[in-house]
Amino acid sequence: MAKQEDLFKNVVSHAKEYGYIFPSSEIYDGLSAVYDYAQNGVELKKNIREYWWKSMVQMHENIVGLDAAILMHPTTWKASGHVDAFNDPLIDNKDSKRRYRADVLIEDYAEKLNQKAEKEIEKASVRFGEAFNLEEFVTTNARVVEYLSKKKEILERMARSLGNEDLADVKALIEELEIADPETGSRNWTDVKQFNLMFGTKLGASAENAMDLYLRPETAQGIFVNFLNVQKSGRMKIPFGIAQTGKAFRNEIVARQFIFRMREFEQMEMQFFVKPGEEMKYYEYWKTTRLNWHLSLGLGKENYRFHDHEKLAHYANAAADIEFNFPFGFKELEGIHSRTDFDLKAHEEFSGKKMQYFDTEENKNYTPYVVETSVGLDRMFLAVFSNSLKEETLEDGSTRTVLQLPSVLAPTKAAVLPLVKKDGLPEVARKIIEELKWDFNVAYDEKDAVGRRYRRQDALGTPFCITVDHQTLEDETVTIRHRDTMKQDRVSISELKGIIENEVSMKNWLMKTKV
Ligand code: GAP
Repeated sequence: MAKQEDLFKNVVSHAKEYGYIFPSSEIYDGLSAVYDYAQNGVELKKNIREYWWKSMVQMHENIVGLDAAILMHPTTWKASGHVDAFNDPLIDNKDSKRRYRADVLIEDYAEKLNQKAEKEIEKASVRFGEAFNLEEFVTTNARVVEYLSKKKEILERMARSLGNEDLADVKALIEELEIADPETGSRNWTDVKQFNLMFGTKLGASAENAMDLYLRPETAQGIFVNFLNVQKSGRMKIPFGIAQTGKAFRNEIVARQFIFRMREFEQMEMQFFVKPGEEMKYYEYWKTTRLNWHLSLGLGKENYRFHDHEKLAHYANAAADIEFNFPFGFKELEGIHSRTDFDLKAHEEFSGKKMQYFDTEENKNYTPYVVETSVGLDRMFLAVFSNSLKEETLEDGSTRTVLQLPSVLAPTKAAVLPLVKKDGLPEVARKIIEELKWDFNVAYDEKDAVGRRYRRQDALGTPFCITVDHQTLEDETVTIRHRDTMKQDRVSISELKGIIENEVSMKNWLMKTKV
C-alpha cells in the first residue's frame, strides 16, 4: 500500500513539475478538487479528446457530433431525474469530522475481499502450474468461495438498501462489517444521509427575477433534448449516435484523488439511438468496441476489467464499467449504460413535445432506446499519465525517469537539439523545426549537456530527440533517439517527417482498435 501511495504522490508531483497539471488558483491555496491543465497537460488532454472523437465520429458514418451549452433549462434536470435522484449517500465520522460516501466505504471493503480471493488464486496457480484449473479452484476452494460469496452478499445487500432508500440499513451494514474511518480508524459514525450533487447557479440581472439553474452534471442531457433536431437536420436513420465532449460539474462529497474525482471535469459521451428490443445487441457491441479503443493505447490488457453494476441508476436496464488499474487500485474509467427510453420519454412528458422517431421501414413512430458510452477525459488522462510514469534502472546502474506516453498522445512529438550552441548547429536545428512544425508539435532545446536534455525530454514524454552535430553540416544527417529504447539511429533530415509520422499517426494507432 505504501508503495502505491508513493507512486501516486510521484504522479501528482511529476504532473506539476513538468507542466501537466496545477492546482486551481494555487496562489490562494487552491480550490478543493479543481485543477488547471498546464502547457503540456492541455496538449495531452486535447490529443486524448481527438483520439476519442476520431474513433467515434470520423470512423462511424452513423455518429455525428454536438456541442450543447452547459446551461440548460432547469426543467431538463427535473425530467432527467437529477433533481430528485442524483444523490450520493454520505456518512460523517463523528471523531475525525471527515465525510465519506457510504457506498464507497462498503465497496472498498468488498474490493478487499476480492483482493484476498485473487491472492489465493495467484498462489494456487503458481503451486499447480500447468495443471491449474481456474474455474474448478474458484468454485471449490473453501477460502475463495467464502471471500467471493461474502463480497457478493455485501454488494447485493447494499444495492437493495440503496434501491429501497433504506439508509438505516446502509449504516447497519457499515457497523456490522466494522468498517472504520480509513484515515483514523474510528468507528463512530453518524446516520447516512442523501446529498444532491448538482451545483446551483442563477440566471438574470436582479435577485428577484433570477431563474435558478444548474451547472450540468452530465453532458448527455444536451444530446437528448437535441435528439430530434439532429435526427431531422442530419436525416439520420436508426441506429445512429450523437457524440459530445464537454465540461460537467458535480459537488462531489469525497474528492481526494487528484483528477480522478473532480468537481469540474470533462466527459466524452455518445448516445446511440436504437430500435426498442435491440438495445442489448448494441450494449454488447459498445462494450467490446470501447474496450478495444482502450486496449489500442497499449497500457496493458491486464489493467482493464469489466464491472457489471449491482445497483442500476434510475434510468438504466443494464450497465457496466470499464475499470482501470489506477495507482490506488481498479476503479471506474468508463460507463456503458443501456438507458432504455427513460430520458426521451421523460423529456416528452415534461416538455409536451413529441420526442419520437418515424421509422420509414416499419412505417410507425416509436421512442428509441439508448445505449450510452461515457468516459471521463480527466480520468483517461490520469490512466494514461500514471501508467506511463516509470523509474528505470539502466545497464550502467544509473536511473532515469521516463514518461512512456503512447506516442500518439504525447504533447510534443520531437525535440530538436543542437549538440553545441555554436558552429552553425543551432541554425540547422531551427531549420528542421521550421519544417517539422507544420505537421507536429516540436520543441527546441539547447541548454545543458545533451545527456541531460535527453533525460528532460524522457521525463516530459517526448517520443523522439533529434540531435544536430558536426556531421550534419557535411551530409545532412542527424541522430534520432527513441525515448523508450534509447536507441539512436543516424538518418537523413529528409527522412525525419516519415519516421515520426509512422510512429505517431492517429491512423496507425486507431487501426489497432479493429482487432
Ligand atoms: N451520462 C452518464 C454519466 O454521467 P457517470 O458514470 O456518472 O455516468 C461517466 O459518469 C464518467 O464520467 C465516469 O465513468 C468517469 O470517467 C467520469 N466522471 C464522473 N464523475 C467524475 C468526477 N467527479 N471527476 C472526474 N470524472 C468523473
